[in-house]
Amino acid sequence: MSISFDILNRAFTYYCPPRTVFGINSISRLPDELNKFKFERALLVSGPKVSKTKEYLLVRDRVSSTGANVSEFTMVESEPEISVLNPLAGFVRRLQPEIVIGIGGGSSMDFSKLASVLSVNEKEPASYFRGEPVSKKGPPIVTIPTLAGTGSEVTPISVVVDNGVKLALANHALYPSVTIVDPSISCGASPAATASAGIDALCHALESIMSVDSNPVSDSLSLTALGLVCSYLERAYCNGSDLEARTGVSAASVLAGMAFQATGLCLPHGIAYTYATRCSMPHGSSVSLAEPYVVAFNAPAIPGKIRMIASAIGVDASGLSPTEVGFEVASKIFDMTETLALPQTLEDLGIDESELESMVEDLLRNHYRFVTKNPRKPSREELLDLYMDMHEGL
Ligand SMILES: [Fe+2]
Repeated sequence: MSISFDILNRAFTYYCPPRTVFGINSISRLPDELNKFKFERALLVSGPKVSKTKEYLLVRDRVSSTGANVSEFTMVESEPEISVLNPLAGFVRRLQPEIVIGIGGGSSMDFSKLASVLSVNEKEPASYFRGEPVSKKGPPIVTIPTLAGTGSEVTPISVVVDNGVKLALANHALYPSVTIVDPSISCGASPAATASAGIDALCHALESIMSVDSNPVSDSLSLTALGLVCSYLERAYCNGSDLEARTGVSAASVLAGMAFQATGLCLPHGIAYTYATRCSMPHGSSVSLAEPYVVAFNAPAIPGKIRMIASAIGVDASGLSPTEVGFEVASKIFDMTETLALPQTLEDLGIDESELESMVEDLLRNHYRFVTKNPRKPSREELLDLYMDMHEGL
């Protein structure tokens, strides 16, 4: 694979602090990792379903074994509403935890970061999603994913839903200090959850490479993540107890998360935000629907990168134009989403053509930050064409 000088010809900084403890049975190292911190009050943050699993109880036992007082906040559903911030803030401002451990999928880990920040920052909780500065760093955050793909275990980002609009908070105070990624914990995830979360890692890797802020470090992480998802996600979906496959997808999640937390994400995530909540879809499957269409749209603007992507996912690009390579890459993504039983068109979601213009408006009004990261800046007309393609299929 040849690497274009374009990506080396820009200055960049790279910062990715979480200490990552990775591997099968790495959860056994939790007490040792916790004992590196000084604390008497620990808080576990999770969701109502995860908090009843044996994996959660195992983690709770291991945290208790440190001798700390353990409290629990288990109200975090997937795609959490902004209203959950108030009970969380009230709880952590009284408790004043000295360490916060998030266990679950992306939302539980996101809320563990918010628990830390809200315990020491006193303003109205939702205000931090509307520009209020986070002035203080809270207690250390430990993340333990039970589902691989979101990358939340390593990113300084939290997402909430406010009146159907997804709002994100990205701040250095949200960086986890440690993440323990034990692929065996993800063996309990259902095929549908495995597919939706795992494909999110593929989308993070693709969008990090396509981002105007990509750099050699993020590209290296993303290219490896792409290869891992292509090798292992369909296996993990077909056989949840395939530990080798679970390990591959878990590694892809971490690597893609480390990449996109530095580069940002581009158009597919922005587009997905315009229908995910109105269709109550899991995050990953909403993004994977948009991904191949945007890859094909972007390909002419990223001739070097689209070849790197093709090479990483096993697409033969020899003799093809960038546009043709884009279609081949898109076709490979469609093959994967078909195997994973993920939706491929907006029509599959029951969205009517008459709704598309309002989605373009929503994208431009509420999610423009994703457009700014995109290598090809679409006009309003081009966006509508893109949505029409997504409605009918390529
Ligand atoms: Fe995502």
